[in-house]
Amino acid sequence: MTEPLLEVRDLHVRFPVRRNMLGRTTVENHAVSGVDLELRAGETLALVGESGCGKTTLGRTIVGAQKATSGSILFEGRDLTAMGGRERAPLRRQIRMVFQDPFSSLNPRFTLRQIIGDPLVATGEARGSELEDRIAAMMRRVGLSPDYMDRYPHAFSGGQRQRVNIARALIVNPRLVVADEPVSALDVSVRAQILNLLRELQAEFGLTYLFISHDLSVVENLADRVAVMYFGRIVELASTADLYERPQHPYTEALMSAVPIPDPSLKGRGGRILLPDELPDPANPPPGCAFARRCRHAEPGRCDTGAIPLEDGARCVRRGELDLQGIVETTS
Ligand SMILES: Nc1ncnc2c1ncn2[C@@H]1O[C@H](COP(=O)(O)OP(=O)(O)O)[C@@H](O)[C@H]1O
Ligand SMILES: [Mg+2]
Repeated sequence: MTEPLLEVRDLHVRFPVRRNMLGRTTVENHAVSGVDLELRAGETLALVGESGCGKTTLGRTIVGAQKATSGSILFEGRDLTAMGGRERAPLRRQIRMVFQDPFSSLNPRFTLRQIIGDPLVATGEARGSELEDRIAAMMRRVGLSPDYMDRYPHAFSGGQRQRVNIARALIVNPRLVVADEPVSALDVSVRAQILNLLRELQAEFGLTYLFISHDLSVVENLADRVAVMYFGRIVELASTADLYERPQHPYTEALMSAVPIPDPSLKGRGGRILLPDELPDPANPPPGCAFARRCRHAEPGRCDTGAIPLEDGARCVRRGELDLQGIVETTS
């Protein structure tokens, strides 16, 4: 086996949330709590989980926009978290992010030329006609006419703006792209176009994707593997086919049952599991499994005491028992 392109080891990210009168941190929000992940070159790994579970924080930490509290992130075997800014700078271009909201992520005062060309200008990599040529080529590649180069983002639709975001991420020829819910803010009608574009670009440039989504239905046709995140942790990681066929963790099972699009592979497998309650407060984690209060398999005295950790989906229900069959609440 070749070395993974990216390896995340026991990563923790905590945010201070409340300070006492002396300015000391009194409570910490544990957004990422011990994540281990590997990305193989050329694959698409989907990172799926409800809003607030830590997906964006994990993605931002991987691209270097957020500092890790502890743990390591190895890119081709080199630990990014141990590097200083100068050493890390050339590696930054290898890992780029596409943001969720194409409306707020583009500076309205800059033209597409400035937005897309910025990473090249900032590093002094290209200027003059070479800069212009590279911007034009990238615009064409993502389906935007270079005639629009001197226009401002407000002139464009959500889908077009997301193309701008993608062009900005790819103009420095990255190896790894963290796409943070790249279609969640878009109209359903343009989602497929952007997903197809991402797929084409992946094939053309040999990209590796970490594709973040709160919605499992988006990733089934896109991802090679899926990591399911809950409460700052990866609770299950499997090939896409295995995950959809045989979910191992009760949380995956619940997420899967909420897939809204009629999916032939799920037909006749029972209905929807409604997840009660919201996520626990990450600044005040419950004792025991963080999913116990919402889990239809939970056993009092066992799951809420810490005897079985959240991550251990294979042990908390007997393997094979967990199926989408016989789900309590049916939809049809
Ligand atoms: N800059 C920040 N400061 C404090 N808390 C944050 C910050 N960013 C995210 N969080 C918290 O971290 C948790 C995970 O958030 P986030 O990574 O945005 O989740 P997701 O992308 O899965 O919705 C949430 O509880 C959120 O409130
Ligand atoms: Mg997010």
